[in-house]
Amino acid sequence: MDRYLVFGHPVRHSKSPFIHTLFARQTQQELEYGLAEPAVDEFAQALRTFFDQGGKGCNVTVPFKEQAFTLVDRLSPRAKRAGAVNTIKLTDDGVLLGDNTDGAGLVADLKSHGVTLADSRILLLGAGGAARGALAPLLAELPSELVIANRTHTKAQQLADEFCDLGHVTAQTYEQLAGSFDLVINSTSASLQGELPPLAPALIHTDIAIYDMMYGASDTAFISWAKQHGARQTMDGLGMLVEQAAEAFTVWRGIRPGTKQVLRELKRNLGVI
Ligand code: ATR
Repeated sequence: MDRYLVFGHPVRHSKSPFIHTLFARQTQQELEYGLAEPAVDEFAQALRTFFDQGGKGCNVTVPFKEQAFTLVDRLSPRAKRAGAVNTIKLTDDGVLLGDNTDGAGLVADLKSHGVTLADSRILLLGAGGAARGALAPLLAELPSELVIANRTHTKAQQLADEFCDLGHVTAQTYEQLAGSFDLVINSTSASLQGELPPLAPALIHTDIAIYDMMYGASDTAFISWAKQHGARQTMDGLGMLVEQAAEAFTVWRGIRPGTKQVLRELKRNLGVI
């Protein structure tokens, strides 16, 4: 049976095996999908061993995405832009192809929620790996402007400079932010410490769409905060998780699984519904 897995550390709580097992059942693909949690300095060896022993493909999550970028034989254009690899496929001619499906997953999930990206004014909070992965796919949707705000402003500026060939992208400090945004995407890891990005409440209005790449059994701190200040449309990163997985599954198997039912089952599994 074709073998796939996700590398991460820690990875025990990963939902990827659950999601890919449902995709495989739905599309009648014979495969198994497991977990691997190598020590942080043993990822390269673990990856090599997995493919030497017949593995067909893998996902890579925190903290290995940047290292995976350096270990594959070839990079997809979107992985090159993201500077990170979350999906690896062993091609028929024995090449390890590194791809990145995170940004495509975000855009697919936004669209599935009916969010219009073309001609919209987008605010992206954070300038780490998650923001970098999202930029090219977001700019490909031709927003009128994409503003990056980050606690460490120089990092936002670097990203804006790096991606300015793809569209109208600028960096602003949190204090500089003004005007009306159509969509705010929180890519920061602030919620992990129970913190909020320092965004002025005045930027939130009833018609704004709020997306938090994080998710949990209940509202993230950022989503609760945005709701308190009047945001009516809020979305968390669970849909992005399923959509990036669907994109990876498509890369590996050449068949695109449906995501709606799988997302529903995942929510049930997490106790969200
Ligand atoms: P990831 O790969 O998930 O993006 P990362 O590369 O460590 O993780 O980036 C985390 C991002 O969250 C950074 O943009 C970080 O801001 P700094 O660049 O200033 O460190 C942001 N972040 C983390 N905690 C935050 C907080 N409490 N408030 C605002 N931004 C925060």
